[in-house]
Amino acid sequence: MTSTESKPPRRILSGVQPSGKLHLGNYFGAIQNHIALQDQGKCFYFIADYHALTTIADLQENAKQRAKTLRENVADVALSYLALGLDPNKATFFRQSDVPEVTELAWVLATVTGMGLLERAHSFKDKTDRGISASVGLFTYPILMAADILIVRAHVVPVGKDQVQHLEMTRDMAGYFNRAFGVKVFPEPKELLTEAPVVLGTDGAKMSKSYGNTIEIFAEGKALKQVVMSIKTDSKTVEDAKDPATCNVFALYSLFATPSEREELAAKYRAGGMGYGVAKQALLEKIESHFAAAREKRKELASRTDYIEDVLRDGAKRARIEAQATMELVREACGLRGHPLAG
Ligand code: TRP
Repeated sequence: MTSTESKPPRRILSGVQPSGKLHLGNYFGAIQNHIALQDQGKCFYFIADYHALTTIADLQENAKQRAKTLRENVADVALSYLALGLDPNKATFFRQSDVPEVTELAWVLATVTGMGLLERAHSFKDKTDRGISASVGLFTYPILMAADILIVRAHVVPVGKDQVQHLEMTRDMAGYFNRAFGVKVFPEPKELLTEAPVVLGTDGAKMSKSYGNTIEIFAEGKALKQVVMSIKTDSKTVEDAKDPATCNVFALYSLFATPSEREELAAKYRAGGMGYGVAKQALLEKIESHFAAAREKRKELASRTDYIEDVLRDGAKRARIEAQATMELVREACGLRGHPLAG
């Protein structure tokens, strides 16, 4: 056996917040990458419902609706990932709250982490800087995220640039624990930043749920057409020559098109005589065909009662085996378990 063959596979982990319908920004920024990675290591992907609780209480919704919204959002992420190609036999796919060891580890990490570290977290600062008071849960969000990662002792965490600070804090917390108890329980996890294209929304700003400018992956028919036709363009007439480099319809089209298709459309832009409606129609067709199979699969999975629940429960079972093994080491290391006469 060569040394590479004898190495255990690297552990890859990432979490997805269930915050609403998934959109093209999520797809090209994260989902596509998560799915590609499932053949490149031992993957753990989870739906971060505990994290989502830090925002769900703020939703402008009636109190009864909030729990329903969270449940729907969790099911939506699960269905979408499975329809888009996540294979639960390859990756361990679970719901965060089904692995309660995560919150236990979060408590232990909290006891070795200074307030100062958390006060510097962007997610907390952004909110308090805007004069909005934060919950303790939002304040300790980075500890929960560190626990997510450290509970399976992950090596690699595929995330977007906005999560890099959280990864730095996770490494800090792993070090605090290891040093406080003179152990090496936790490896230092590294972020995996893949080159994700910037996906712009219908108004030309970064595509984001909070800007209300998203194109949903699973929108279809009239609703999808309406969104695509609403993409903002400049006011050039049909006859005018147009610049593909500054057109958001073209940028979105490029995400789906082959290089030659891209060139072909670019030439039509430059030549003039083509209205933006034609480009939008081309984009619409691309979106429809790219996700056609996933759309069918999603419908099929949605019609199977209990399917999602079974997949998530099975994933949690497998994740808990890892989590419980980690907690054994943690409890032993910090004296929550073990014989008083032991070292
Ligand atoms: N904070 C991440 C986000 O907002 C979601 C998340 C929670 C996560 N726990 C994680 C990502 C652990 C990677 C690893 O996108």
